This record gives sequence, C-alpha cells and structure tokens, in this order.
Amino acid sequence: MNKALVLGGSGFLGSHLLDELINRSIKTTALVHKNTLFPGKQNINTLTGSLTDFNWHTLEHELPDVIFHSARMGGHSERTRIKAAKQNRQANERLINWLETLQNPPLMVFVSGSLVYGSHEKQRIDETQPPSPISFQRDYFEAEKPILKSLHSGKIPVRIVRPSWIYGHGSWFQAFFLNYMNKKRKVPMYGKGNNLMSFVHVRDCAAMMIRVAQYGEENAIFNLYTESAVTQKNFSHLLAENAKLSLKQVPLWWISLRFDRAVSEAFRFSLNLSTHHSRIWEQYTPYYPSIGLWIQKVLGANNKAD
Ligand SMILES: NC(=O)c1ccc[n+]([C@@H]2O[C@H](COP(=O)([O-])OP(=O)(O)OC[C@H]3O[C@@H](n4cnc5c(N)ncnc54)[C@H](OP(=O)(O)O)[C@@H]3O)[C@@H](O)[C@H]2O)c1
Repeated sequence: MNKALVLGGSGFLGSHLLDELINRSIKTTALVHKNTLFPGKQNINTLTGSLTDFNWHTLEHELPDVIFHSARMGGHSERTRIKAAKQNRQANERLINWLETLQNPPLMVFVSGSLVYGSHEKQRIDETQPPSPISFQRDYFEAEKPILKSLHSGKIPVRIVRPSWIYGHGSWFQAFFLNYMNKKRKVPMYGKGNNLMSFVHVRDCAAMMIRVAQYGEENAIFNLYTESAVTQKNFSHLLAENAKLSLKQVPLWWISLRFDRAVSEAFRFSLNLSTHHSRIWEQYTPYYPSIGLWIQKVLGANNKAD
C-alpha cells in the first residue's frame, strides 16, 4: 500500500487512522466533510466534500490503493439516526457504483461494529455469525447493507472490520465512566454487570485496519479486539481498584431516562467476540494489549496514555 484515502478522517477513529498511515509513510489523503482534521495532520492531503455528492471521478487520475471508509452519517435520536442511515446507504451505493466502473478498483476497508452481531451472552462469536443488529446498529446497519452485498458479490475488493468497544480519550469511556467518576466519586456499573465486553484501543483499531488491508483475506469480515472478553462487572472493578473508588450499581432505567434506548441496549449487550482470522494477528503487537494497562496509565499520576 503506497496511497490511501480516508473517509471520516476528522472522526474519533479516522483521526488515529491518519496518524497510523502517516507513521508508515503511506501517502494519505482525507475527505474532509464539516469538521476540520485534528491538529498535527500537516502531512495529509485533503479533499472537501460529502459522501452524498463528492465527485468520485476526480480521483481517477491518481487512484488510491486503499479507501478506508470510517465515515458515518450520524444522528442524536432514533429518528434522526434512521434518516441519516438511509442517506448513508444511498451514498455508499453511489460509491460502490463508481468503484464497479473501474478496471482496477482500490480495496475498500469499511468500518462496521460488533453491535451488528447482536447480544449472544457467553457464546463465542466469530465472523461467520449472521447480522442481528442491536442498539445503535439497529439504526445504522442500513448503511452497511450495500457494502455487505458488494463484499458477497465479489465484484470489487471489499473488507469489513467489526471493532469491539473502541476505547481512548473522547470515547464512551470518557462519557459513561470518567465523567461519572469525576462527578460522583464512584465507579458506575450499568445494570447487573454480567454482560461480556471485548475491547480494542483506538490506536490498535487503526493499526489493525491497516493490517487487514495489507494481509487480510479478500472479501472477508474481520472482528477487531485485543483481549478476551470480560464482564462489565470485572471491568468496573478494575476501574475502581485503579481509581481507589467504590463501585455503584446504576440501574438501566437510569440510563433509559437520560439517554435513548440504544444506550441502555449497549450496556445490556453481551458478546464474547472471537475470530477465524487469528493468523493475521500472530505477528501483531498491540500498543495496548489490555484495557487494564491503559486504565493504569490514564488514572496514574502522570496520565501518559493516548
Ligand atoms: N466509537 C466506537 O466505540 C466504535 C465502536 C465500533 C465501531 N465503530 C464504528 O466506527 C466508525 C467510526 O466511528 P467514530 O467513533 O470514529 O465516529 P465519528 O467520530 O462520529 O466520525 C464519523 C466521521 O464521519 C464523517 N462524516 C459524517 N457524515 C459525512 C458525510 N456526509 N460525508 C463525509 N464524511 C462524513 C464525520 O465528518 P464530519 O464530522 O466532518 O461530518 C466524521 O469524520 C463508525 O462506523 C462506527 O460505527 C465505532
């Protein structure tokens, strides 16, 4: 891979992906939509436009080798998410239609999420599991349908990644754990805490996506995580130990009152993620092999974690 195009480069995941590509000296271009890129991205070429109407033909004079698609048209309520996902589906169809006109189309690596599998308690779930979307993916999955169809048709090279809970500064971890801890001086455990959670740090997620592009099987799906799933209860205990705070069980109805259904479903969601692509991870050394290591750094005296 010499040249990459990133869709969604201003986002939480996309911005780390840009860093990982630049660190590997890959010539990188980002499609910038409404928000500018995070600071420190001076080596990135930018194009401006929306997924909905960007003129893809303008790329034909110098095609990228890989398009990393981490752009998601989002909404703040179920209604707006459903509306956004419909537009996102049309935009993704338009992108695929263009790719199908090319003689040598670039590889597309599309970012989905493990919520697509639905909740499966303790059962190990690999990429052969059919979709049964839950929580935010109940609404957003619509946008993925043309990408999945294209992956199965084999007309163009497509790989889909399904990351687990992606952690890092600015993620759900900040919103639902750190903010709560700072305000209430307790560590929350949402619901009974028996649900299984798998994790991947945002830098690892970005690096693993590049590895999928370089070494992944053609037209396949890749679950992304760096450690075995743990219960939310164990995760909260780990936090409490490191923060030297006590645990507080927060009922799911409390979440339902403050946020929408998707959030309470996410904290009920239990998935023991696995993969049948373990071969490509044999040579991969994660930045953060466990969330415990990151938590120690985040809550430690010098707070030196990404
Ligand atoms: N965060 C997680 O924990 C997590 C876990 C698993 C999977 N995922 C998946 O990872 C993907 C990225 O997530 P994220 O957390 O990085 O999301 P994010 O921070 O909301 O980023 C979304 C990106 O999409 C861009 N975008 C939105 N509408 C666009 C349009 N019409 N045209 C072009 N670009 C557009 C945004 O740009 P503007 O801001 O400029 O509009 C932004 O750069 C999503 O598909 C998500 O489902 C995330």
